[in-house]
Amino acid sequence: MKANQLVFKQALNFKSASYSRSIAITSYRPQSNYSAVHDYSPAKEKSRPVVSFYNQSAIDVAAKKPSVRLTPATLLYTGKSPDGNHLLRSAQYLHKELPVRVAHRIAEFRGLPFIVGCNPTILHVHELYIRAFHLLSEFPSIRDMDTERQYCKMVKTLLDDHKDVVTHLAEGFRECRKHITDESLIHNFLDRILTSRLGIRMLAEHHLFLHQDKNDSIGIIATKMSLKKVIEKWVSFAREQCELRFGYAPSVKINGHTGATFPYIIQPLDYMLPELLKNAMRATIESHLDTPMNLPDVVITIASNEVDFIIRISDRGGGIPHSLLKKVFQYHFTTANDDESVSDNGGALGTMIEAVNQPTAGPLCGFGFGLPVSKAYAEYLGGSISLETMQGIGTDVYLRLRHIDGKQESFRI
Ligand code: ADP
Ligand code: COI
Repeated sequence: MKANQLVFKQALNFKSASYSRSIAITSYRPQSNYSAVHDYSPAKEKSRPVVSFYNQSAIDVAAKKPSVRLTPATLLYTGKSPDGNHLLRSAQYLHKELPVRVAHRIAEFRGLPFIVGCNPTILHVHELYIRAFHLLSEFPSIRDMDTERQYCKMVKTLLDDHKDVVTHLAEGFRECRKHITDESLIHNFLDRILTSRLGIRMLAEHHLFLHQDKNDSIGIIATKMSLKKVIEKWVSFAREQCELRFGYAPSVKINGHTGATFPYIIQPLDYMLPELLKNAMRATIESHLDTPMNLPDVVITIASNEVDFIIRISDRGGGIPHSLLKKVFQYHFTTANDDESVSDNGGALGTMIEAVNQPTAGPLCGFGFGLPVSKAYAEYLGGSISLETMQGIGTDVYLRLRHIDGKQESFRI
């Protein structure tokens, strides 16, 4: 067994031990006063009793409430007040909203088929959400900046504790797919939890970032985002990963509306772009193994108009075979071979996204999550991902996203 496989297995064993401990405890005792939560510290929180999975009426009540979704334009145009009142209002909105959204997720975990819900990795994520619900819902009302600071501290810790959720879900569902006959069940569950999580994280980060005083952003919204620069960042990253692995990488050309700047939220692009670029580069390299020094360029075209902006990534990586075309947007479908996949936690581009070390991503190459998750995110953002492939030549992927400047109908977070 390779060293990293061993570490992975040990990590799983460790996790299993903590899962069984948590399952054994069946009653959650709310704190008699809120000071432990109010003076939020991870050490204090860890000493709390582990939560139970059922019969928690607070979760049932919250899960019945509708979520209040905001347009990016609302986030963008809610003014800053010099006395910090905007921070209080924003924290008060989150304080009400996050427990409801987290409760919706818990309700969905409860609705999973029993055999799936019992999978230790999935149970672990379920438990993370229950813990988050209690921390968020028991936090006292936020009426002053001191409490607001404590709230930020807790939210920051939660974001960090949940950073591997996508990877855990990918692992968990892969482990128990054999028990599932209805594919659409997993697909819909994953679409909903991943997009809802994206929304939760964007709202939480927006609030945290409101504390920063920057000229070119308001919270998570980059007010003059240069699309070309964001793409270039991920092109460099993807190329570096290819070079590390193969010693070479395809060149990338960017054309079209390269000077376009507009307000947008960079976080979801930071997930989707490396995944799509990784696919294009991997296909290019794998279809030119005999001529590694003569690789065709990957060509990226940007278009921006009044309604939306479009990124087309064209590769000459041989295209997607007819027989696989219907499958590429399915969760867990991959042609990454074993030594490239996450099963040994490495391989060709397996470490690519892991190396980004960003909270919305995970080490996903080989999980077959890149395309379905990117599609779900794009649709959540009021856009789409589609692909045109020419078998024997290459593939064009179109990522289409709506502008958020408030001039047109937009999505809600
Ligand atoms: P992964 O990268 O983990 O395999 P993805 O969901 O990103 O997962 O992609 C699923 C599969 O779709 C890939 O394994 C590959 O077979 C195919 N694919 C995606 N993009 C391309 C592309 N540009 N050219 C050829 N095949 C592709
Ligand atoms: C997640 O990242 O899974 C979340 O839902 C974050 C939230 C608990 C703050």
